[in-house]
Amino acid sequence: MDRGLRVAVVGATGAVGQEFLHLFEGREFPVESLALLASARSAGRTLLFRGQEHLVEEATAEALNGTDIAFFSAGSGTSKALAPQAAAQGTVVIDNSSAFRMDPSVPLVVPEVNFAAVSSATKIVANPNCTAIILLMALAPLRSLGAISRVIVSTYQSASGAGALAMEELKEQTRAVLEGRSFEPKVMPHPYAFNLFSHNTAVNEEGWNEEEWKVRQEARKILDMPDLPMNVTCVRVPVLRAHAESVTVEFDGPAPSEDQVREVWSRSPGVRIVDDRAANHFPMPLEASGQGDVLAGRIRRDQSHPSALSFFVAGDQLLKGAALNAVQIAERMIAAGHLG
Ligand SMILES: NC(=O)c1ccc[n+]([C@@H]2O[C@H](COP(=O)([O-])OP(=O)(O)OC[C@H]3O[C@@H](n4cnc5c(N)ncnc54)[C@H](OP(=O)(O)O)[C@@H]3O)[C@@H](O)[C@H]2O)c1
Repeated sequence: MDRGLRVAVVGATGAVGQEFLHLFEGREFPVESLALLASARSAGRTLLFRGQEHLVEEATAEALNGTDIAFFSAGSGTSKALAPQAAAQGTVVIDNSSAFRMDPSVPLVVPEVNFAAVSSATKIVANPNCTAIILLMALAPLRSLGAISRVIVSTYQSASGAGALAMEELKEQTRAVLEGRSFEPKVMPHPYAFNLFSHNTAVNEEGWNEEEWKVRQEARKILDMPDLPMNVTCVRVPVLRAHAESVTVEFDGPAPSEDQVREVWSRSPGVRIVDDRAANHFPMPLEASGQGDVLAGRIRRDQSHPSALSFFVAGDQLLKGAALNAVQIAERMIAAGHLG
């Protein structure tokens, strides 16, 4: 690539949007110019990038015109309204919302797992649900040890997965509880400090909430295993940042050994093994926060089933679960000559 890219971030003032700016700086992403876009509420604010204040503008099709690549993280409504227009204007869109994830014509990509789904003709790439990405980073490499026949996942999801306002609410509410003050939650549907609750998305007639549905459908699409039996339970826990997940995976034949799993993970980019039984030290959200690897460990045989094993993962869902995965997709597209 002989020049930098004209980049836009839609949702630049949000929790994910802010991570894009840090990642562009830290990874030396080839930004020639940067458009910071958000809702009309934020127009006129400034954000710091490479030591300089940049003006935030309202996200519109005109503001996206002439950009090479746009990273969307402003909710699915904004993506549906603006991404197809941006793509028609020649901008490559990497979309963090759920708007296009299950669209068969849009690749849904975790670069370590299925970058091959992207081609030079791709104009919109969907970034998967954060919980699905963190799960797949550890799960997908295990396919080299045998055919996976069933997956059971229980999640421990942090406030940051619900955006900047949810993080603030958890902090405020924790302070209020400790000081004996009452607090009326506005972002979350239930008291969050010193509590946990079933994921705050709509529950369908079968009793699945939207997050559980997304994790299952998106994992199946990314793995190209449309019928993979999966049972997912998603829960919000009062952790500020980074999701954790308890996973049980069943194989067609006998389960691989713990050592085989460690060996496969040890050569899987983006996976870091944290599995110290003597010290009772396994993946934790605090250690996963602010860094790009998915932490994986607590590998053990499922004593209730000869073909199953269990493990635990933790990952920063604002990074690998969102902004980092999106930037990695863009970096691979640049390397493949699809951009620039
Ligand atoms: N948080 C995560 O871990 C995570 C992970 C994966 C994907 N995502 C997805 O990423 C998106 C943003 O999440 P977030 O956590 O960053 O949320 P957030 O902190 O609430 O930020 C939302 C961003 O969207 C902008 N926005 C809202 N309505 C808009 C509109 N009508 N037009 C233009 N911009 C608008 C906001 O601008 P204002 O500041 O002007 O309101 C803000 O920049 C969502 O689609 C979410 O599902 C989030």
